[in-house]
Amino acid sequence: MWKLSLLCFLLLCSSAALVAAQGSRNNPSKWQTLTGSAPLVIARGGFSGLFPDSSLNAYGFAVQTGSPNLHVWCDVQLTKDGRGICFPDIRLENASDIDLAYPKGRNTYVVNGVSTQGWFSVDFTLKDLGLVNMRQRIYSRAPNFDGSLNQIQTVEDVVNQIQPPALWLSVPHDAFFSQHNQSMRSYIISVSRNIIVSYVSSPEVGFLRSVASRFRTGPTKLVFQFLGREDTEPTTNQTYGSLLTNLTFIKTFARGILIPKSYIWPVDNSLYLQDSSPIVVDAHAAGLEVFASNFANDAATMPYNYSYDPVSEYLSFIDNGNSSVDGVLSDFPITASATVDCYAHLGKNDTVTANVLVISNEGASGDYPGCTDKAYEKAVSDGVDILDCPVQITNDGIPFCLGSINLRDRTTAAQSDFINRATNNPDLAIQNGIFTYNLTWSEIQSLRPAIYNPYSNFTLFRNPKAKNDGNLMQLSDFLTFANASSVSGVIISIEDAAYLAKNQGLGVTDVVLDTLSKAGFTKKVMIRSSDSAVLSKFKSSSNYELVYLVDEDVRDILNSTILEIKKFASSVVVSKKSVFPTEQAFLTVETNVVPKLQAFNISVYVQFFRNEFVSQPWDFFSDPYVEINTHYSYMGINGVITDFPATAARFKRNRCLGYKTVPPYMSPVQPGGLLSIMAKQDLPPAEAPNPILTDESVIEPPLPPVKLPTTDTGSGSTAPGPVAPNGQSTLVGSTILSGIAILVAAFVLC
Ligand SMILES: *[C@@H]1O[C@H](CO)[C@@H](O)[C@H](O)[C@H]1NC(C)=O
Ligand SMILES: *[C@@H]1O[C@H](CO)[C@@H](O)[C@H](O)[C@H]1NC(C)=O
Ligand SMILES: *[C@@H]1O[C@H](CO)[C@@H](O)[C@H](O)[C@H]1NC(C)=O
Ligand SMILES: *[C@@H]1O[C@H](CO)[C@@H](O)[C@H](O)[C@H]1NC(C)=O
Ligand SMILES: *[C@@H]1O[C@H](CO)[C@@H](O)[C@H](O)[C@H]1NC(C)=O
Ligand SMILES: *[C@@H]1O[C@H](CO)[C@@H](O)[C@H](O)[C@H]1NC(C)=O
Ligand SMILES: *[C@@H]1O[C@H](CO)[C@@H](O)[C@H](O)[C@H]1NC(C)=O
Ligand SMILES: *[C@@H]1O[C@H](CO)[C@@H](O)[C@H](O)[C@H]1NC(C)=O
Ligand SMILES: *[C@@H]1O[C@H](CO)[C@@H](O)[C@H](O)[C@H]1NC(C)=O
Ligand SMILES: *[C@@H]1O[C@H](CO)[C@@H](O)[C@H](O)[C@H]1NC(C)=O
Ligand SMILES: *[C@@H]1O[C@H](CO)[C@@H](O)[C@H](O)[C@H]1NC(C)=O
Ligand SMILES: *[C@@H]1O[C@H](CO)[C@@H](O)[C@H](O)[C@H]1NC(C)=O
Repeated sequence: MWKLSLLCFLLLCSSAALVAAQGSRNNPSKWQTLTGSAPLVIARGGFSGLFPDSSLNAYGFAVQTGSPNLHVWCDVQLTKDGRGICFPDIRLENASDIDLAYPKGRNTYVVNGVSTQGWFSVDFTLKDLGLVNMRQRIYSRAPNFDGSLNQIQTVEDVVNQIQPPALWLSVPHDAFFSQHNQSMRSYIISVSRNIIVSYVSSPEVGFLRSVASRFRTGPTKLVFQFLGREDTEPTTNQTYGSLLTNLTFIKTFARGILIPKSYIWPVDNSLYLQDSSPIVVDAHAAGLEVFASNFANDAATMPYNYSYDPVSEYLSFIDNGNSSVDGVLSDFPITASATVDCYAHLGKNDTVTANVLVISNEGASGDYPGCTDKAYEKAVSDGVDILDCPVQITNDGIPFCLGSINLRDRTTAAQSDFINRATNNPDLAIQNGIFTYNLTWSEIQSLRPAIYNPYSNFTLFRNPKAKNDGNLMQLSDFLTFANASSVSGVIISIEDAAYLAKNQGLGVTDVVLDTLSKAGFTKKVMIRSSDSAVLSKFKSSSNYELVYLVDEDVRDILNSTILEIKKFASSVVVSKKSVFPTEQAFLTVETNVVPKLQAFNISVYVQFFRNEFVSQPWDFFSDPYVEINTHYSYMGINGVITDFPATAARFKRNRCLGYKTVPPYMSPVQPGGLLSIMAKQDLPPAEAPNPILTDESVIEPPLPPVKLPTTDTGSGSTAPGPVAPNGQSTLVGSTILSGIAILVAAFVLC
């Protein structure tokens, strides 16, 4: 495990290349790249997804966590005194505080024919820039690292201090600097005399042709960068789209091309992938390497086909059966590195390296409306181990699977005539709900299921094309389906049993026991509840694995409470925040909850693992695999409960956990690591600690007898009985969200 710390960067950076993986590499012949070797990972501005783009922190961290052959990308700009600096934008105020350091330094220049206002490097000497600090340029990313010293660096300083395995120099502007009497050509040639530069790329034909003869031999390869298809290339005055049809021309001055990823996998207006273009195959045939750009784990515009899984996206470029790009340009090089080494060319037959149970949450509810046949079929084909059914009961006593007792949460009930059955239920603390126990099964079947979008506030939606697809299933049909599928078992969740027995005359536990006994189900059965009375009842009448849901975020559990839990359960479900508490979505420290429960021989399953980047604390780099891996490798949890079983199932088979030395991109993160490197003024305010789970919150009176409802059912007049809390599943999600909300708000609003 690497510990994140600034000191660590400085100490390790000179030997960073040695820290890298020593495990077995992929069989090179598997790669459909031009040369047959593994695709390169190119870190755009370093680990710019986390730290200010092109800062030493970003570069150091990328090298520390990336592939041993990581290529570090630097956008070269020239200062007034002709020094080359790494900076991601021609306007310095875009990624630094130069507007504060030099309030009067703004200028207006023509850049590629467009009049542009801003602070330009040609107006400042390197010494002037010593007063300037780099800062986060993407509003949806954490600005908490801006307060550390992040001075603008020269190319030479980056190389000397970080010693990256390989250097990629990007020359976004040549014509502009010529107009200001600065020569990119001289600069690049002089740098390449002292430093090994692996690649030089530019979107300007004129620049590349001016240096082509110089780099015809030697280690440096020239790459032509394509911008938008409609943008005009300044030297030839042709659009990039039209230049793409003339690869033989490009081959006269370049050895490769760098293209936006959408050139390869075009995306339609509704954010779905279209058929891939043959550009990679064509360019390889012309002898050109192909590099794809614009990869970022936190892209809100990731096409729905990837289910918000960044590894899935990389794989479609490097492991699609037809061709592989020769490199990917990423803001999150850890994810690209892991994809190449750990996840490419994996099959369902590959060995499981992570012994962690993959439990679905309402089936593959990240892709289809929860608990529908579609969601369950997808979960099975994704490789889920345990399929879940949260049982609800209809007015005519039929148990079926649905993620909420309130039909409004998971169906189109609110748009139906049943809206006139909406009521407040103070016992369940639900306002204006349309309740499963109030409708018959045939009434419920007249509704369409509706996909649940926990992150709609961030404009992150799930598979809109399928938002009402599929059909709901009765528990008996669910069991028949699961029995015939490849899963190893099912988990059946029961909530609100006491309320339903006492107030609605519905005996859920009896119905579930009865359905199970009639089903002839031969696989493992797990019963889950936050109500110990439900589990005690099953304990007395079955041999099922009983799972206790701790439905609040806790920081500890008393030993006496664990002994209580052991009386009715052999495993426990806790929230992610009970394992790794956070402050404004930064991990603080791990709790003792998992090891303590395990010391008492209780398995611990953790919920909810989701792919949308806003669901993950910053420490996991918007990478759902890093989040799962940290829970597994650092805390040793026994199972994950997830809306996206494909991601967890792929993690289980990742090759890298099988290596003798686990590479840094498959190492868990250190809780509190990011907080430890923040400047004081950037630390999030401390939050109130979570409570300790005590005996009183676990012990419940036995379930009340099933009592036929009186005429005023469901009204507030019933005394507050021993009712288990309900609906916690969504609450856990929203507390995670609130931490990030503040930071992401600006992004969502624009
Ligand atoms: C910097 O430029 C990028 C790309 O044009 C833009 O998305 C971003 O919002 C800008 N950031 C700032 C702080 O100006
Ligand atoms: C560049 O040099 C030319 C000739 O020496 C001079 O006329 C011009 O003003 C200079 N331009 C700038 C922007 O310094
Ligand atoms: C570039 O093309 C446009 C339109 O085709 C034309 O108006 C313009 O004069 C051209 N510029 C140069 C420098 O050739
Ligand atoms: C390719 O580009 C070169 C240089 O601009 C031009 O001479 C040639 O005609 C182009 N070929 C095609 C097929 O467009
Ligand atoms: C992406 O998903 C859409 C909708 O399901 C589908 O029509 C399309 O074929 C998919 N694209 C690819 C490349 O799989
Ligand atoms: C592979 O190539 C075939 C033929 O060109 C094409 O039909 C198919 O869609 C391609 N598949 C991928 C994943 O690119
Ligand atoms: C997986 O293993 C089975 C049995 O060993 C074999 O028949 C099948 O071809 C394998 N599948 C792949 C994709 O390797
Ligand atoms: C459903 O709820 C409504 C509103 O509370 C109530 O009037 C009605 O009797 C209930 N129907 C059934 C079948 O429980
Ligand atoms: C469940 O599966 C087992 C083995 O696959 C089979 O023997 C049994 O008949 C199935 N049960 C039902 C009810 O189909
Ligand atoms: C709780 O149980 C653990 C494991 O058996 C034991 O190591 C620890 O000392 C106990 N703590 C207390 C306060 O009894
Ligand atoms: C731990 O629990 C499992 C079942 O959950 C049981 O099979 C095993 O014997 C227990 N081990 C100990 C040491 O109690
Ligand atoms: C989402 O936005 C709505 C309305 O703006 C707000 O009431 C709700 O609390 C938000 N939900 C979350 C999880 O932030």
